[in-house]
Amino acid sequence: MTNTIAFVSIKGGVGKTTLALETASCLANYYKKKVLLIDGNFSAPNLGLHLNLTNEVTLHDALNGLPLHNTIYEAHNIDIIPADLHYRDPVDIFKLKKIIAKFKPRYDYIIIDSSPNFEELKPVIAAADKIFLVSSPDHVTLETTMKAAELAKQERTPIHGIIVNKIRSPKHELDLEQIEKTSDIPVVARIKSHKNMAKSLYCQKPISLIEPNNTISKEIRKFSSALCGEPEFRNRLLEKLLLSISKEKINRDMLRQNFYQKQII
Ligand SMILES: Nc1ncnc2c1ncn2[C@@H]1O[C@H](COP(=O)(O)OP(=O)(O)O)[C@@H](O)[C@H]1O
Ligand SMILES: [Mg+2]
Repeated sequence: MTNTIAFVSIKGGVGKTTLALETASCLANYYKKKVLLIDGNFSAPNLGLHLNLTNEVTLHDALNGLPLHNTIYEAHNIDIIPADLHYRDPVDIFKLKKIIAKFKPRYDYIIIDSSPNFEELKPVIAAADKIFLVSSPDHVTLETTMKAAELAKQERTPIHGIIVNKIRSPKHELDLEQIEKTSDIPVVARIKSHKNMAKSLYCQKPISLIEPNNTISKEIRKFSSALCGEPEFRNRLLEKLLLSISKEKINRDMLRQNFYQKQII
């Protein structure tokens, strides 16, 4: 059965779009899953911009009656439905669940990016089978993100974990225990801030395809592996090479394994 997964937070800039795109890319390219990625940020969509898609017809048209299959674009082995940044007509965003329902059998995963706007988040959470909260490791963002958790509880959409993104300075940030204690939700992935994310925006391509050995790419691959239950994709040749070059680097890689407290069920 298709899993419809949304990445949500009531805060902009935490990495929802990045994680939706990178997870979709890893599931499609490393684990060979059939993935549909939807831009559920209705008022300020930008998924198309991340991939240099010229969106002639979009999710907004589908919400206004155009057959959904006409709005699907392909990039990097992912099927993508962008939304329209300049759409003027009114749309019923609550139709989202209904219009994607008949596409579920065609995909292994439907991934929905979301808006930080509370009202726009409702139809996305309603359309999802499960959600992942996205937060940076500070109490301001975490407490705001918990508002999205409340909404998910109201909609009875299960929360499968928090992804902590943009870890920069652990000494001055909430640690895993503090985040889990505050939220009562397991942390399923921890992703460092990396300067080369800018390269992904510049090249309009997922970082996991441009730099597969970047720490972000590795962590998202690990998360995607846990998500789909496939053995983790690893670059054996590179590992051998690294082993002969730098034991210290391998040790740090092993330490990173501790980022994952539990597998995602
Ligand atoms: N782990 C990370 N390290 C560095 N930059 C990141 C990381 N995750 C996201 N970004 C950058 O932060 C910005 C906001 O990310 P985005 O995914 O658009 O957030 P949201 O969708 O929550 O508003 C983008 O420029 C993105 O490239
Ligand atoms: Mg976004």
